[in-house]
Amino acid sequence: MTDERDFGFHTRSVHAGARPEPTSGARALPIFQTSSYVFEDPESAAAYFNLQEYGNTYSRIMNPTIAALEERIANLEGGVGAVCFASGMAAQTSAFFTLLNPGDHVIASSALYGGTVTQLKHLFRKLSIELTFVSPDNVDEWRSAIKDHTKLLYGETIGNPGGNVLDIEVLANLAHEHGMPLMVDNTFATPYLCRPMEFGADIVVYSTTKFLGGHGTSIGGAVTDSGEFNWSNGRYPVIAEPSDAYHGLAFHETFGIYGYLMKLRAETLRDLGACMSPFNAFLFAQGIETLPLRMRQHVSNAERVAQFLSEHPMIESVSYPGLETNLYKPLVDKYLPKGAGAVFCFDLPGGREAGQQFIRSLTLFSHLANVGDAKSLVIHPATTTHRQLSDDELLATGIGPGTVRVSIGIEDADDLIWDLEQGLAAITE
Ligand SMILES: Cc1ncc(COP(=O)(O)O)c(C=O)c1O
Repeated sequence: MTDERDFGFHTRSVHAGARPEPTSGARALPIFQTSSYVFEDPESAAAYFNLQEYGNTYSRIMNPTIAALEERIANLEGGVGAVCFASGMAAQTSAFFTLLNPGDHVIASSALYGGTVTQLKHLFRKLSIELTFVSPDNVDEWRSAIKDHTKLLYGETIGNPGGNVLDIEVLANLAHEHGMPLMVDNTFATPYLCRPMEFGADIVVYSTTKFLGGHGTSIGGAVTDSGEFNWSNGRYPVIAEPSDAYHGLAFHETFGIYGYLMKLRAETLRDLGACMSPFNAFLFAQGIETLPLRMRQHVSNAERVAQFLSEHPMIESVSYPGLETNLYKPLVDKYLPKGAGAVFCFDLPGGREAGQQFIRSLTLFSHLANVGDAKSLVIHPATTTHRQLSDDELLATGIGPGTVRVSIGIEDADDLIWDLEQGLAAITE
């Protein structure tokens, strides 16, 4: 791409990061299925390992196919760069690990993906990192949870599966008042529906497994950084001071706006090793080419289906934040003007039994543990994705025994409504 023009989101989804391959002329993004790279000479090899020059060394930390995907994601997000990982979980673990030390404290929204709640509670305890969960909606709770050793605020743009919308700007301002970054999981919104950095978020993480890929073929994750946060403000010696894990390199001083991402790649990805495969990077880059088109259809279908369910006499409640009556509609208007995504929950009367009978009767919706696929998906969170959570934790994420989560695909909305109607009829039978 060129600096001469600010290209639109659709153009960047197709072109950012990828250029025709110079040796073969291949127009599609090549899959560089290689573990390592032949160095031009010993001097360049040394310069690459010293991070004095940027060059490919080993595919655990860099690979040209993955680099193209990283550039595309960073471009769409408006960040200074991105680092990709083997999964969304690996991305967020690595993002945390890079800026936290044992003894640090993190404040997180209580309405998060169940796997993240478990990770924060149990893995953090093992690493001696203190954690406070707070209501995503109550900024006073966030403020009063801040301690001297708090290092990070964390939440999801649209919570999985409760559909709460995070007040990103308010939380970013609070974090910055206390010299901390705000990290946001933007998986459910994608950069097409919301770019959290435009509202002050510093680090944005993704499970690329979901809407970014859109095909349900691959697991992956990404971390993007705005480059705006001042890691040398005295609270983050782990990034600002010389690192004995990288022969005394001071990442922020040396790389400036790229300091956090360089440490994330050169140390955390190097040490934890949860790298994305080049083949998956190729599939994600292909998926992103159609991201804006898919998201428009996802949103328009989700709005139709949510409206249908909210008017159905059997349905007790629908948590789609885009509904006019939803508590989060004002935040949707501010942060998600193109739509509130396509994943939401609704409650069936009859609890667990009814939920399972309903799921058994669906024909178009696939019963599985994923979201953000082009195909419509359904699951019963209390017995699957969120089963490690206590009743209180379930309640905090907005899940009851009869709660069903759907991820609305890009099929015809009329067909999806037909399928849901016959699933509901099966319960009454
Ligand atoms: C919001 C959110 N973040 C992170 C993850 C973890 O991503 P992955 O399954 O790619 O590890 C998930 C998985 O469902 C998710 O829904």
